[in-house]
This record gives sequence, C-alpha cells and structure tokens, in this order.
Amino acid sequence: MYGMVNQAIEQMVLRAHGPDVWRDIQRRAGLTVEGFISNEAYPDEVTYQLVGAASECLGQPAERILHAFGEHWVLHTAREHYGPMLAATGSTLPEFLEHLPRLHDRVVLIYPKLMPPRIEVTDRAERSLRLHYTSTRPGLAPFMGGLLSGLGQLFGTPTKVTLERPRGAAGGTDIFRVEW
Ligand code: HEM
Repeated sequence: MYGMVNQAIEQMVLRAHGPDVWRDIQRRAGLTVEGFISNEAYPDEVTYQLVGAASECLGQPAERILHAFGEHWVLHTAREHYGPMLAATGSTLPEFLEHLPRLHDRVVLIYPKLMPPRIEVTDRAERSLRLHYTSTRPGLAPFMGGLLSGLGQLFGTPTKVTLERPRGAAGGTDIFRVEW
C-alpha cells in the first residue's frame, strides 16, 4: 500500500502513545528504514507487520488497532490532507456514502498504482443502507468498520455499523449495515 497509509499508522501511534512506543513497534515490525515516503507503493506486508507489531506492543487485538486506524484515517489523515476530496464526496453522511463507491476513482488519478477496494451501496432507505466491501486483501473489515464510524463522527451523525455478513473463506465481500 502507498506509504501514506503506513505514515498514518505512525501518526496515530505517535499521537496516542508517543515516540518510544512507535520505535518499539518499528523494531518489532522489523523495519530498518526510518520514515515512509507517502507517494511510494510499499508491499502490503509492511502494513500488516506494523499492525501486528502494534497489536503486540499495545496488548490489543489487531482488529481493535485496525478499527482505531479507520477512525484516525477519516478524522485526521483525510481531514488534514484530503479536505477538498472529502468535501466533494458529500456534505452529509448519507450523501457521502452514496458517492463513496467512486471516491477512490479520484485518488487513483494522484496515485496510479492504487489498488483500492470495491465498494457498493444497496438497500438505501431514509436512515440506513447496506455497504458491500470487496478487497483482494484479507482481514481489513475492522478497518472499514472504523472508517464508517469515523465518517459518522465527521458529520456529527450518530451511526450504528454492523458487520452483517463477513466474507467467507472463498468470497472477498463483507456486507455492512449502516444505520443513522
Ligand atoms: C480522501 C480520502 C481517501 C484517500 C486519499 C484514500 C486513499 C487510500 C489509499 C492510498 C489506500 C491504500 C491502497 C493502496 O495503496 O493500494 C486506501 C485503501 C483503502 N481505502 Fe481509502 N482513501 C480515502 C478514503 C476512504 C474512505 C472514506 C473509505 C471508506 C469509508 C476508504 C476505504 C478504504 C479501504 C477499506 C482500504 C483498504 C484497502 C483494501 O481494502 O484493499 N477510503 N485508500
């Protein structure tokens, strides 16, 4: 994944736990190089190793780290670095979710090696919808859960996110129900 993802993990850890914990996580993840370049594509293993090392150092399950990272991504990374892109996607939670399936189409224009997830929205109702999240990468449903929860906070809209149908061993789609 692009270095900006690993950089955002670093920012989240520094913000919540400080530089000593971050150094510890880097060491455990086996990273020898200091700092990530935001627009360089890194092997996915780097990101998974960082999450695994954070899980060990902080004594928290990886799912919890990924959920917190999803919230951090929306509330800090995207808000601070991609404000116009967020604003163009929607000004309310339902409007944003409606346009979410096309959001990474804009990102790919800046980051051509992007391998974004596929997102589809179905069963739209006044206060709920279903979000189908398909990825070639395993284990990131808690990240998506955190992103959705972060969006609820971003728009000041209390939101309930339920992983209604986790992807099976064969299929790559998790189905979330989002209610507000
Ligand atoms: C302007 C804001 C955003 C930017 C710039 C952005 C950019 C990125 C980047 C660079 C990656 C790594 C993929 C790669 O390098 O191949 C990524 C992955 C991902 N993004 Fe976004 N993103 C944004 C907003 C969102 C939002 C709002 C959601 C969902 C609510 C989302 C869902 C995901 C997920 C789930 C992944 C993990 C990759 C996977 O599932 O395979 N992103 N995004």
